[in-house]
Amino acid sequence: MQTIRIERTTAPKEKPGQDNPLVFGTIFTDHMFVMDYDEENGWHDPRVIPYQPLVLEPSCMVFHYGQEMFEGLKAYKADDGRILLFRPDKNIERANRSNRRLCIPEIPEDIFLEALKTVVKVDADWIPTRPGTALYIRPFVIATDPFLGVRPSHTYKFIIILSPVGAYYESGLDPVKIWIEDEYVRAVKGGIGEAKTGGNYVASLASQVKAHDEGYAQVLWLDGVHRKYIEEVGAMNIFFKINGTVVTPALNGSILPGVTRDSAIQLCKMWGIPVEERQISVDEVIKTAESGEMEECFGTGTAAVVSPVGELRFENEKMPISNNHIGELTQRIYDTITGIQLGRIEGPEGWSVEVK
Ligand code: COI
Repeated sequence: MQTIRIERTTAPKEKPGQDNPLVFGTIFTDHMFVMDYDEENGWHDPRVIPYQPLVLEPSCMVFHYGQEMFEGLKAYKADDGRILLFRPDKNIERANRSNRRLCIPEIPEDIFLEALKTVVKVDADWIPTRPGTALYIRPFVIATDPFLGVRPSHTYKFIIILSPVGAYYESGLDPVKIWIEDEYVRAVKGGIGEAKTGGNYVASLASQVKAHDEGYAQVLWLDGVHRKYIEEVGAMNIFFKINGTVVTPALNGSILPGVTRDSAIQLCKMWGIPVEERQISVDEVIKTAESGEMEECFGTGTAAVVSPVGELRFENEKMPISNNHIGELTQRIYDTITGIQLGRIEGPEGWSVEVK
């Protein structure tokens, strides 16, 4: 494996103080990881360098056709000082699945993991330790050929930046209100919905703005063909607890395969709670919310962790869930996942990876 060169900053920035709210995605650490790709050398020159602006030609393909992949994961400092990554292998695997869909060359898994560990170790002092905080890790690849024709780029940059973060939602762990979108769609099977790429998120903005204006935190998407089946929320996968069974939309090609989604499913199964990954229609959601059979609803995501949903709105109908309180199972999943992430609870084999 290629050695990662490290160039440390000579001008370290001031770190956020203990009472800084760490608004998601606003503060960046002192260093970043960069690696280049060209057809002759493959992925080469892996390095950690001071965090700095990129110098790119305005003709770079990423600016025009959006050939890019991104990921999101977090590093935590355990009570005993160990630095832990949560299931980084799942993010690496998904990154390369996205890369294949987006015609981006795959990144060797060993270099990817080493890059994550190295840059996190260099900026370890930036990992916040207050409850509900973590160091968010954002790996991404951009297409850098200066070319305006439509084809896959021949050159790329793989970059990892780090950001100390608090809760994703302003409301923290309080229930969020979610708008079920009936006008726009996010993705269709065969498209890029299951890849983690900017295009899926720009597609969500118009309805997110609409939902925000109405006082809703995020949008819940319906499938793009029938406009009937539940898919996912803007930055989370979605779960319902209906009559004691946990139901979440099956991965159907247009839904993002979330790492926290997979973790929540595995935990529920370990606890003996029935889990169904299947199609769930908006009609079933409305019916069970109205009848009270829907006991809980929550979203899962790296940024959002586990987020209770207190109200769903579809057209003019507002459906309160769990009396706008966090449900018992939602809380248990949140406590367990964050406990594992912080090294306080022993998780399944391989879920915690120490950065040494
Ligand atoms: C994450 O949860 O890491 C995500 O990528 C969601 C994001 C768009 C904030």
